[in-house]
Amino acid sequence: KETQKIRMSLLDWYDANQRDLPWRKRKNESEKERRAYEVWVSEIMLQQTRVQTVLEYYKRWMHKWPTIYDLAQASLEEVNEMWAGLGYYRRGRFLLEGAKMVVAGKDGFPNQVSSLMKVKGIGEYTAGAIASIAFNEAVPVVDGNVIRVLARLKAISANPKDRLTARNFWKLAAQLVDPSRPGDFNQSLMELGATLCTVSKPSCSSCPVSSQCRAYSLSLENRTISVTNY
Ligand code: ADE
Repeated sequence: KETQKIRMSLLDWYDANQRDLPWRKRKNESEKERRAYEVWVSEIMLQQTRVQTVLEYYKRWMHKWPTIYDLAQASLEEVNEMWAGLGYYRRGRFLLEGAKMVVAGKDGFPNQVSSLMKVKGIGEYTAGAIASIAFNEAVPVVDGNVIRVLARLKAISANPKDRLTARNFWKLAAQLVDPSRPGDFNQSLMELGATLCTVSKPSCSSCPVSSQCRAYSLSLENRTISVTNY
């Protein structure tokens, strides 16, 4: 029941406070593959780049290649030109190679973590984001923000760069994810970490789950691990 309460509080907060980002636009049932493509591109861009910067690049990218079929026709030169300034250019190349793989296959857009992870450049994080946000698969998504939120919520003090510890955060996130709204739930954790449960100054007075937060109840919110990457 504590899990249930955390889910409800986070989802209610997310419904009221989520930032209006272009890749969050809802799609019809028939447009799930389109949403998957949008989530894919946005999550890859967001992996090493701030939201503010990504917004411009994302809009230009979608204008030029609105669907995965358009992207699959592009050349590496065009992709690199589009990516100019974003850094870590292999991200763009992997998107192009991944798009070619998916379009060349006969099964359509992979819609589960296991099949998504076979695509070039898609790891557990990106697979989890696409599967949960676009296809409603009840799988977790764990990035630096999510680790920090979970570490505070459960007052876990451990080094997330350690493989076993990282596994445990994925397990914890898997137990927590709301099976009825996995994509929104995962994004609510990321959003909380990005906006309130920040590294240096968590805004516990505005937090929807402060009453369930162990770090807060122990006054440890400034002392548990503060990770942005692992
Ligand atoms: N950071 C990376 N992906 C995100 C998402 N889908 N929502 C909020 N923050 C994010």
